[in-house]
Amino acid sequence: KQVTLSLIKADIGGFPGHVGIHPNLIEIGERELMNAKKKGDIIDYRVMKVGDDLQLLFYHQHGNDSPLIHELAWQTFKKAAKEAHRLRLYGAGQDLLTNAFSGNVKGMGPGVAELTFSLRPSEPVVAFMMDKTEPGAFNLPLYRIFADPFNTAGLVIDPSLQGGFVFEVWDIMKHTSVRLKTPEESYQLLALIGAKSRYVIKHVYPGPDHPKLNPEIPVASVSTEKLSQIAGEYVGKDDPVALIRCQSGLPALGEVLEPFALPYLVSGWMRGSHNGPIMPVSFDDANCTRFDGPPRIVAAGFQITEDQLVGPADLFKDPAFDEARKEASKIATYLRRQGPFEPHRLPLQDMEYTTLPQILNHLKDRFTTL
Ligand code: 13P
Ligand code: 13P
Ligand code: MG
Ligand code: MG
Ligand code: MG
Repeated sequence: KQVTLSLIKADIGGFPGHVGIHPNLIEIGERELMNAKKKGDIIDYRVMKVGDDLQLLFYHQHGNDSPLIHELAWQTFKKAAKEAHRLRLYGAGQDLLTNAFSGNVKGMGPGVAELTFSLRPSEPVVAFMMDKTEPGAFNLPLYRIFADPFNTAGLVIDPSLQGGFVFEVWDIMKHTSVRLKTPEESYQLLALIGAKSRYVIKHVYPGPDHPKLNPEIPVASVSTEKLSQIAGEYVGKDDPVALIRCQSGLPALGEVLEPFALPYLVSGWMRGSHNGPIMPVSFDDANCTRFDGPPRIVAAGFQITEDQLVGPADLFKDPAFDEARKEASKIATYLRRQGPFEPHRLPLQDMEYTTLPQILNHLKDRFTTL
């Protein structure tokens, strides 16, 4: 049986500021998706959150890019936005960039990660959700999960992983994509994805000779679309999500979480204009308070049956990630002491919004030729 997971998210108003989400928005999400389940449009659902982003996870049989599912998400966000306006939440309706729905939320503001696949006898999946950063923030962990044997022991000790994986990378400036196979093309892959604001992983596929899995069906998906769709002009940092299937010919669930033991640096944070450490947190700690951050990630673990999502398990709610959180706090303090100076503050071309043109305009008569 072919099933689809669609994780669709939007910031439709922060509470307060850009810190978190008001419970009424979660309630509206629950109500709308419960109705859709009762009607039989979806098999199951979960409404989740990270920071100020409302996260709708749909479990259904309509495939990727389904107008039914995308419209359901869109209408739910619209209803939540109405409440956000009523409560004067911050940036109410922020990610609903257009008024007319045209069949697919891509390019309209919300972010989407989708996976369609045949259920295995046991189907563990992790939904990762980040706030205060950009889709390229998944480049480093995806490489480590699917291509780095120092992270993923299975690449060395499980014969079914030894054929490697294929990474689909999007050039979000040129609107092109390329597939690179690891381990053979690891160096070329790293050359691209290290430039994480431009080359962004969209999908990971099993290698061509995988003994258990179809090499044409992705096993990991990131919400990269919006960036690509509106690249060229202003692009928000577009707080990203990812879905990753685990075990039995794929990295184990613990291997999928392991990269987050390192609070690596990502772009986003205050005003989408700073570098900072990504902090893995529990659902309860997913509020971006310190300098609107630091950037955060939560991990929701599921087992999937024919008729339900079993979960979520709050995977970073574990003292084993305390050390990463402590290190992230330390790095945050160190970077913050550098105030408005690069590389804590992003270089001009990467800032989410900047008033520099106005400042330059204001000073234009005071510049003299050298
Ligand atoms: P268990 O023996 O606890 O099932 O663990 C098996 C395993 O492969 C862990 O990665
Ligand atoms: P969000 O993208 O999460 O709304 O954050 C924007 C911002 O400016 C935070 O300081
Ligand atoms: Mg916001
Ligand atoms: Mg956000
Ligand atoms: Mg953002």
